[in-house]
Amino acid sequence: MKLILLGPPGAGKGTQCKRIIDKYNMKHLSSGDILRAERTAGTELGSKAQSYMDSGALVPDDIIINMMAGAMKKESGGYVLDGFPRTVAQGEGLDKALADAGEKVDGIVNLIVDDKVISARLTGRRSCPKCGAVYHVENLKPETEGVCDNGCGQLAQREDDKPEVVDNRLKTYHEQTAAVVGYYESKGNMIINIKADAAIDDITASIFAELDKLDYQVS
Ligand code: AP5
Repeated sequence: MKLILLGPPGAGKGTQCKRIIDKYNMKHLSSGDILRAERTAGTELGSKAQSYMDSGALVPDDIIINMMAGAMKKESGGYVLDGFPRTVAQGEGLDKALADAGEKVDGIVNLIVDDKVISARLTGRRSCPKCGAVYHVENLKPETEGVCDNGCGQLAQREDDKPEVVDNRLKTYHEQTAAVVGYYESKGNMIINIKADAAIDDITASIFAELDKLDYQVS
């Protein structure tokens, strides 16, 4: 199964992806996580992406499409795309990459949350720089404050979770990314809309109920 998880920054895409991949035995392909790994590794791609990410702007489409097409090619089974596509041009690039491989998108989940909820989620988020696990200072606490449950060590706050950058990420979402939903609707894809201002477990249950209807065989 090839899934796309859409939604604004802080909608809970990463949080829900972890649960989806565990239940359906899929891989998590997060454009943001891949870019952060490139930055940490000090690659040319990572340094090209840095200024865009730090300001809350989008990394150019050609860079992202090549990066994600490369990541998708390495996977022989199902995966969830998180944070990609983020523009209509990226949607077109994704469709071409899938068509070239004789594949297609099986489901699109769109998490819907008001901007006012997002700010509190992002400023309270803490992530593990090593394993990528995501926590929240109020809503999803680690067992020991500030420490990853997976034994990796200290949690960190993402640079782009500062309030001024969050505002810009939201602006970027509304100006460039929200249109991706309309792009897929115009192509006849069914969008699974999930109200994502509920409790994390309730959102997971809603997503699973919808994905189970896709009749995907877990391998
Ligand atoms: P990326 O890493 O993709 O960030 P994002 O889309 O802005 O999404 P986030 O990771 O911030 O949020 P999320 O929806 O995953 O929420 P999470 O589950 O963590 O991108 C970063 C940057 O990279 C971009 O700004 C851009 O520069 C670049 N980039 C990436 N992809 C690109 C692309 N395709 N094209 C161009 N540029 C690209 O949850 C957030 C917090 O809320 C957590 O603390 C969590 O515990 C908490 N939480 C989650 N759900 C709930 C809930 N239901 N109730 C309460 N709290 C909750």
